[in-house]
Amino acid sequence: MTERLEPVPWTADMSVGVESIDLEHSMLVTLYNDLVHALNRPVSATTKRRYLDSVRSHLLTHLAHEEAVLRSRGHPEIDAHVSDHRHGKAALAALTDRPEEQVDLVEIARFLRDWIIRHIMVDDREAFAALPPDAAA
Ligand SMILES: [Fe+2]
Ligand SMILES: [Fe+2]
Repeated sequence: MTERLEPVPWTADMSVGVESIDLEHSMLVTLYNDLVHALNRPVSATTKRRYLDSVRSHLLTHLAHEEAVLRSRGHPEIDAHVSDHRHGKAALAALTDRPEEQVDLVEIARFLRDWIIRHIMVDDREAFAALPPDAAA
């Protein structure tokens, strides 16, 4: 458990091609990186928790918005995508909604990194690529 968390750079290949979603994804990466910086510094547990809460809050807002956009644009497998979001949210809640002394912020950050990045780079890109080409945003 000595692996040091590193910030994740935003790269062009994370783009799904829809500006409002890209902006939210990029903000998600920024907030994740803020959390990493807080975890790598001698700051209070309360402050670290606040950074985590910012990531989580933005993530939940983003997922709801993304689901609405995919639904309104006729994504053919919206239910499967929503189900993936639901599983991610449940896994995150299982890590965060514990008695305070059992919350491991580094473990949560690793989960967020793996889930957020994989989801954006693979599932979201596939989902937006599958939209009907002439649908209005
Ligand atoms: Fe997303
Ligand atoms: Fe998604």
